[in-house]
Amino acid sequence: MPISYHEQSRVFRLDTPGSTYLIALVDDEGFLAHLYYGRPIPDCDLRHLLRLEEYPAPSQRNGERLTFYDMLPTEYSGHGVGDLRESCLSVETPQGARACCLTYLSHRIFRGKPKLEGLPATFGGQDDCATLDLVCQDPALGLRVHLIYTAFDHLDAICRSVLVENVSSSARRLNRVLSACLDMDNQAFDLITLHGCWGQERMISRAPLTWGRQGTASLRGISSHQEQPFLALAEHTATQTQGQVYAANFVYSGNFLAQVELRQQNDLRLVMGIHPTDFCWNLAPGARFQAPEVVLVYSSAGLDHMSHTFHDLYRRHLIRGPYRDRPRPALINSWEATYFDFDTQRLLALGRLAAQAGIELMVLDDGWFGRRNSDDSSLGDWTVNEEKLPGGLKHLAEELNKLGLKLGLWMEPEMVSPDSDLYRAHPEYALKIPGRAPTLARNQLVLDLSQPQVRQAVYRQISAVLRSAPIDYVKWDMNRTLCDVYSSALPPQAQGELYHRYVLGVYELQERLLSDFPHLLLENCCGGGGRFDPGMLYFSPQIWTSDNTDAIDRLRIQEGTALVYPLSAMGAHVAACPSHINRRTTDFITRGRVSLPGCFGYELDLAALSPEELAAIPAQLEEYRTYGHVFRTGDYYRLASFRENHEYDAILAVTKDKSLAVIDFVQVYSRLEQRSLRLPLAGLDPARRYRCQKTGQVLSGAGWMYGGLPLPKLKGDYLSCLIVLEAVEG
Ligand code: DGJ
Repeated sequence: MPISYHEQSRVFRLDTPGSTYLIALVDDEGFLAHLYYGRPIPDCDLRHLLRLEEYPAPSQRNGERLTFYDMLPTEYSGHGVGDLRESCLSVETPQGARACCLTYLSHRIFRGKPKLEGLPATFGGQDDCATLDLVCQDPALGLRVHLIYTAFDHLDAICRSVLVENVSSSARRLNRVLSACLDMDNQAFDLITLHGCWGQERMISRAPLTWGRQGTASLRGISSHQEQPFLALAEHTATQTQGQVYAANFVYSGNFLAQVELRQQNDLRLVMGIHPTDFCWNLAPGARFQAPEVVLVYSSAGLDHMSHTFHDLYRRHLIRGPYRDRPRPALINSWEATYFDFDTQRLLALGRLAAQAGIELMVLDDGWFGRRNSDDSSLGDWTVNEEKLPGGLKHLAEELNKLGLKLGLWMEPEMVSPDSDLYRAHPEYALKIPGRAPTLARNQLVLDLSQPQVRQAVYRQISAVLRSAPIDYVKWDMNRTLCDVYSSALPPQAQGELYHRYVLGVYELQERLLSDFPHLLLENCCGGGGRFDPGMLYFSPQIWTSDNTDAIDRLRIQEGTALVYPLSAMGAHVAACPSHINRRTTDFITRGRVSLPGCFGYELDLAALSPEELAAIPAQLEEYRTYGHVFRTGDYYRLASFRENHEYDAILAVTKDKSLAVIDFVQVYSRLEQRSLRLPLAGLDPARRYRCQKTGQVLSGAGWMYGGLPLPKLKGDYLSCLIVLEAVEG
């Protein structure tokens, strides 16, 4: 059992293959202290690490209780009684008091992992993991708090969540409920976060941890292009393959706080959860609130092991559905091919070329419904525009099917255009504040998905569309952040619940869609990669990574994304050149190589390609079908980063049995090639022998890894090569 309680030392221990996590019960009062998290250790009684004798000694504690509260490395911080670091839980009584102080009540340890009510979360059965339900209480508040921990048997991941129960006889108002707290000593840490903007999502930032509070947060109602619900503390000397890393990722798609606070004593507190700004939750007597899950990953072997743990956890214990383990179809998306300017004839012409080249699915993007010929109308009116598509989607799908292509469809169910029949009939369905004109973005408003009748009105329409034709794939888009967050259906004291209720509404809609249409391949999207988070991955095995489809910009975007998320989740398409985003022109083959590790597709007008480019597609697809799976199911290693060296980028993936390794190398700027570049590899079995498919050379794994792979000299910018090493006997 990876979780146990040790009576004698009064310590809870959670063990994963490469980490130990210890929680101690302190004093008879039952404070829960965080004792240790790091490399595996067999001992339990590490109470000396708390240094309890150093700040007020137990004999003086009553007179100096505030110092005690403020110094104790706590498992989950309360509020308002003395711990002046970031609080995780703030609860208001009807009298207006806000203090909260938790002590141990009971615990339960069992195999498996319970579901989180209404929320996405990692899952695991009796054979995969064990769970600790550590129940705390605040008798003065009449509150019970479950700190829930799941440790996975074969992964260095611990998943945490918090369930709050009102066991009093009057109402309680939760003003903040964060999902995880980690108090530790600073170990010369760097803070790693992912920042960006539209078209430049998940840029890696790494800087030494400094005094005070720092981190990342979103108040946009979505996890956002700008921020990512992830942070890591890496030893300053940690590299891809060495050093300690503590990482946290929030399984949630709305407002979040991810913060580290470093104090003068060189101790730190890491917290993660729903952002307390504009949040509250009213708990009637007997009611419960489930906070979303945080995934903690520990690595003593650098960033690569951290990424492997997230990738494996998400591929096996978060992503669901028939496409989880299935190769994803190579697709063509109409957006950058036609934008709004299409009809059935034009789509079928594109389809014919796509089918001839070996593409399997055509995604009809924005513009097929209502009167939508630009982005200023019709969201909310999910009926086919028969002027553009006579015979509707059924006719289009049948014609595409005859060509051997499946049909996929874009939709944006969370939005409404003021110029729509839905809005004219139900203006109260949009988020807006009485007496104030709502702020438009991309000419649209956000539907109030906290209201069941709004969800029903949208679902009725989109499910009818999906039943009207053989549709195998849906791209669920979401093109603006939230503001004017007010619901005409909620009482004044519950308006602070709206951001979270909105996210729960999105989750409920997607769950309903998947259960009614279980064959669907769902791809989430948010004006590019504005909601690329583990919450969405629970519903869709792939997410559109960015609207920036320029191959060179994509190197950095995909590097930041793959730091946390499996490559099997990244939508990656070959797009037209000059790039619609930045006018850069890159080699067609290189565009394919940059997309190869992800969910591969095309997003361009095939008729506008040169004969040579069109002729190159079958070979590109062959490369994707032969080697793409190594990236999507194997272990991913970052060998070189263009972000750091400003010249070239290289990633390697190796199958789990280490029999096949593929190196995807992109030369961004050509170098003065006096000598070929020698690229040290990673992830091979040092003792096995591997043959390079290109040169026939056979060397040990150690020889390739430590001696390095000499790269072919490429003459020119934006060129690439794919190098395959296969294990050979003897
Ligand atoms: C934003 C998406 O990211 C694009 O791929 C495209 O679907 C447009 N929306 C359509 O409006």
